[in-house]
Amino acid sequence: MKALLLAGGTGSRLRPITHTSAKQLVPVANKPVLFYGIESLAAAGITDIGVIVGDTADEIRAAIGDGSSFGVTVTYIPQERPLGLAHAVLVARDFLAQEDFVMYLGDNFIVGGIGELVDKFRAERPDADILLTRVSDPGAFGVAELDATGRVVRLEEKPPVPASDLALVGVYLFTPAIHEAVRAIEPSGRGELEITDAIQEMITRGLTVRSTVITGYWKDTGNVADMLEVNRTVLDTIESCLQGEVDESSEIVGRVRLGHGARVRRSRIVGPAVIGAGTSVTDSYVGPSTSVANDCVIEGSEIEFSIVLADSAIMGVGRIEASLIGKNVQVTGARSTPQAHRLVLGDHSEVRITP
Ligand code: G1P
Repeated sequence: MKALLLAGGTGSRLRPITHTSAKQLVPVANKPVLFYGIESLAAAGITDIGVIVGDTADEIRAAIGDGSSFGVTVTYIPQERPLGLAHAVLVARDFLAQEDFVMYLGDNFIVGGIGELVDKFRAERPDADILLTRVSDPGAFGVAELDATGRVVRLEEKPPVPASDLALVGVYLFTPAIHEAVRAIEPSGRGELEITDAIQEMITRGLTVRSTVITGYWKDTGNVADMLEVNRTVLDTIESCLQGEVDESSEIVGRVRLGHGARVRRSRIVGPAVIGAGTSVTDSYVGPSTSVANDCVIEGSEIEFSIVLADSAIMGVGRIEASLIGKNVQVTGARSTPQAHRLVLGDHSEVRITP
């Protein structure tokens, strides 16, 4: 069995972070979302992975390399333009050959992995198996309609009037029967070849499409609230590991991971939290559900339930909560009068200031 891992796309919902960075590389507990996907594939025994790349190909290649650090072999498959998930299956036709495969959207996050699902598919081998989860906004997803026995009878991509609250999760298991279906469909209203339409085509042709309802799922970690929530969930599972230095006037409470060369001085860190290698925390408080990446500086500040990407500095700003701070960002307190906020913000930034 092979895997097709999708790592193209633009990530408009996570701007401005994704102006300069692939959405699949946004970190959760200081590890790119995409890496969790590769690890779940490897854990399910799938080691031959085709990675679909688009505009951010260089960055994705630099992050994954040849896959050996994950114990997998990676073949990069360029998709010239993001023409849809079913289009990705078309361009991967040669790579996929006559094998069954898992299609995994690189920005989706599934707690608990996919091992059981893959085992069940291997044993029963329906033509396709899709994962579903209950959501409050089904219109933002592919939506499934099941009959009384739980069989999938209809699928619709982003329906204006959803037939159920069961959304398609970004992991699909296919036999080679999918190839004929992707060749048969036409582009959707948004100009994409939808995988949802291809699976509907399989249903129309009388093929067996099974479904499994899961919990612990985040849609493509596509917005800040979801990012913070998935980060919190993953941090809830970390083990303590203090590789940096903590001085005697500091206190570490609960499960905290402190990277190599990180320094904590006169500060209090309450886990679960991760502080990356080379980061310094001075005269500060870092609260639960916070991930601070490598080489950051936190000084004279408080931060909780937030994600800070690499090389950023937060100095003398009081308390920050529920925030996502990009790479190389400076958030500093101004001591001089007049009392004014001075901001240099990228396109699509969002700032909430307490007067
Ligand atoms: C895509 C699929 C959709 C699915 C979703 C899961 O949506 O088209 O059916 O529910 O992934 O992440 P998109 O991310 O392209 O909006």
